[in-house]
Amino acid sequence: MWPKNALTERLRLDWPLIQAPMASVTTPELAAAVSNAGGLGSLGLATVSPDAAGTQIEAFGELSGRALNANFFCHPDPGDVELTGREMRTRLQRRYFEAGLGEVPLPSVPFGTFGMEHVEQIRRHRPEVVSFHFGLPDEELVRAVRETGCQIWSTATTVAEARWLEARGVDAIIAQGTEAGGHRGTFLDADPSSQPGLFSLLPQVVSAVSVPVVAAGGIVDGRTIAAALVLGASAVQMGTAFLRCPEASVHPKHREALAAATDSSTRLTKLFSGKPARSVVNRYLDSLQDAEDLAAPFPAQSSLLLPLLQAASDDEIGDQMPLWSGQSVPLTREMPAAELVATLVREVEERLAALTP
Ligand SMILES: Cc1cc2nc3c(=O)[nH]c(=O)nc-3n(C[C@H](O)[C@H](O)[C@H](O)COP(=O)(O)O)c2cc1C
Repeated sequence: MWPKNALTERLRLDWPLIQAPMASVTTPELAAAVSNAGGLGSLGLATVSPDAAGTQIEAFGELSGRALNANFFCHPDPGDVELTGREMRTRLQRRYFEAGLGEVPLPSVPFGTFGMEHVEQIRRHRPEVVSFHFGLPDEELVRAVRETGCQIWSTATTVAEARWLEARGVDAIIAQGTEAGGHRGTFLDADPSSQPGLFSLLPQVVSAVSVPVVAAGGIVDGRTIAAALVLGASAVQMGTAFLRCPEASVHPKHREALAAATDSSTRLTKLFSGKPARSVVNRYLDSLQDAEDLAAPFPAQSSLLLPLLQAASDDEIGDQMPLWSGQSVPLTREMPAAELVATLVREVEERLAALTP
């Protein structure tokens, strides 16, 4: 059960522990520390240009000779965001005036979806795994990625999504429970309130597909890792647990919020980006709770927030910014990534030993 299986063997991992890709949070230093400690480091590259993605993969390669997971979004085109963002602009106007910012700007699209320029970078830098959030890109792009020789993974938030991904030939499926921090990887069913938590989702996905399943959502320590392995996961993917490592690019106010959060501090919301994502609740979320359905389509909603964040003082910014976090955040610890991996490994061994008399 621990630690070797087909997934770890193929990637030459010492441990089935994956540091989650987290756009604008992960760094080559964080990913390399995890990979060098025997897990799988990941880079969340969705919000940077294809060139910058290539630079980050290259920087990882200078720090580690081990496997890397490079992660991208494949969200649909948001369409006419000027039209669909109109009501949200009206809702935000008072806030803009209070901040001395004048008229709310027209929404814009801050980053594109996965395309051929990304494939070029993958061809050049050859990460061992390319993973996607929000489904898969077009068939032609999937084929082009596969031809580079890397594995292709994607996230499922329901059994139907897992079956859809398996039918399209993915090498592994990340089963993401609703506890998870950051964005839901949902791409078939838009309603997050009907999606299962990991304890329900994981064994159902494991029973439904024959490719390796990676568990994600609420996994932060030896207990939760051991539980996921017992439920049939080939590996675990942890995001929130790594947010508190010094190698992660996390704003000090975000770190403060993580350290103070309880089991009921987080909420799923579209108000930061336009797609459901889990964040610690702050003043911005509380005051716009009734405006969830007005959010501009992903990722345009974030462009409406940006001027407010740029204008906020150091004291106020924590009240406005996304404070991405999963529900198990109170069990996370502040420590360097290599130390965290070693601690998790020790805890899993102790937990599994306690279960076998
Ligand atoms: C700050 C943050 C950013 C994230 N960004 C991404 C991303 O860019 N791509 C992705 O596939 N998953 C992303 N996720 C989701 C993780 O891959 C994973 O599903 C989640 O962190 C697991 O739940 P946990 O946070 O409870 O460990 C993000 C999660 C967090 C906390």
